[in-house]
Amino acid sequence: MTKLAIIGGTGLTQLTALKNPRHETVYTPYGNPSADFVIGEIQDKTVVFLARHGNPHTIPPHKINYRANIWALKKLGVQDIIAVAAVGGITPKMVPASLAIPDQIIDYTYSREHTFFDGKDGSVTHIDFSYPYCQKLRANLITAAASENLPISPIGTYGCTQGPRLESAAEIARMERDGCDLVGMTGMPEASLAKELDINYAALAVMANWGAGKIEGEITMTEIEENLHHGMANAAKLLQAFVAAY
Ligand code: HPA
Repeated sequence: MTKLAIIGGTGLTQLTALKNPRHETVYTPYGNPSADFVIGEIQDKTVVFLARHGNPHTIPPHKINYRANIWALKKLGVQDIIAVAAVGGITPKMVPASLAIPDQIIDYTYSREHTFFDGKDGSVTHIDFSYPYCQKLRANLITAAASENLPISPIGTYGCTQGPRLESAAEIARMERDGCDLVGMTGMPEASLAKELDINYAALAVMANWGAGKIEGEITMTEIEENLHHGMANAAKLLQAFVAAY
């Protein structure tokens, strides 16, 4: 039984720390997950890894089959998910290449298959989503960051946009007025689907750039790649410490 899963986002297509990796294909009633699941060990703990955008990275955020991914993880017996995600920083602490463990979400996405409870079985189910992220997993991620002396923001509101384009400066300004600290494109419906299936879920956000309009000029892919290179190295250290203590 694999209890812990790590979902890797942009900049984390493979988990090189996984020892003895085996590949598993899972078929779901919702279609194909993003990729085969890679199951292996980190420090003798079994971990299942999924590349959210596929491996190689080919699936844009709005085309990810979030339902298949989460359903398949449940089928594999996963109880805890750490979702690694590249994001843009909005508020001052969310400096490029730094890490954050968000505690809230605002969903700006549309037209995504976002629920398992679509009424087709003749029942209506509303889940509680007051606290989207698992507090225990968040606390353990924060402790792991402290043990490695990694600078992180221990809270933050994650605004999830539709993508794949980045936002306009006015959209980021509106998101900041709404209370968003960081912006990404994959946090939803991933978090709520996990909650629907009663899987604990926490996010490890890696700042790839300042959100649109936060600094002068345009956002370039080169800048994103450079920041992710540094940020993901720190995320990998944090994950090692987290899994060691798991
Ligand atoms: N906006 C949305 N998603 C992102 C960004 C951004 O600026 N950077 C990385 N993912």
